[in-house]
Amino acid sequence: MALHEAPTSQAPAARAPQPRPMPQLQRHDAWWVQPVVVAVVLGAFAVFATWRAFENANYQYENYLSPFYSPLIVTGWSLFGRHISPAIFILPFPLFFRATCYYYRKAYYRAFFWDPPACAVGEVAKRHNYTGEREFPFYLQNLHRYAFYFAVIVVVILWWDTFLAFDFGGRFGVGVGSLIFLANIVLLSLYTFSCHSWRHLSGGCVNCFSCAKARHSIWERVTHLNENHALWAWLSLFSVVITDLYVRGLAMGVIHDVRFL
Ligand code: FES
Repeated sequence: MALHEAPTSQAPAARAPQPRPMPQLQRHDAWWVQPVVVAVVLGAFAVFATWRAFENANYQYENYLSPFYSPLIVTGWSLFGRHISPAIFILPFPLFFRATCYYYRKAYYRAFFWDPPACAVGEVAKRHNYTGEREFPFYLQNLHRYAFYFAVIVVVILWWDTFLAFDFGGRFGVGVGSLIFLANIVLLSLYTFSCHSWRHLSGGCVNCFSCAKARHSIWERVTHLNENHALWAWLSLFSVVITDLYVRGLAMGVIHDVRFL
């Protein structure tokens, strides 16, 4: 027997599982469709809203006023010889309300940051300095409740515009535009009053619901609306665009308003 046997080769130690290249998938469905669609639709809306805000034309036709320009509080201002669009003073409020919305945050974080893009899908790029919403500009998301207050004012103004959409020279009338305005403000109201902040305002910090029946009742209704908050968010986004395009088409003479009454 040899005194010095060559060491027997040992079985290599079992390797710890290495992380797979990102994104790690535990899903086999078309999970990427939703973030891609959201990115396209929200991106298109951002471009459209910006273009309309700066167009500064074709926003009014008879008793119809585009929701992008309502209320017309500042008109005729100029800067360096160029008229300032009144929409610039209005749009920041509803846009900030949507940008800080709890639902939209989830949607556009997934769609634009892909961090991660969907449930059970890993991050595309590992980041080690993730700070959530604790740093600028993300901590501005905490202002959502205040954005809600302004959104309520905007909704009241748009209800007044809808009322005027049925007023044809002091006479009650109904046109296609009147119905579009009505659908738009109903959807905007559903979106605004299904807000998570409103739900908290109506029923939060109440330790005894049976002692605060009115607030409990409001909270229950808001909770019911809140279950479809994402649906109202999308439908109201589309209805605002459709209403604006309808007024623009009328103002440009491209279409005519069909009157029923
Ligand atoms: Fe969406 Fe408030 S949470 S509007």
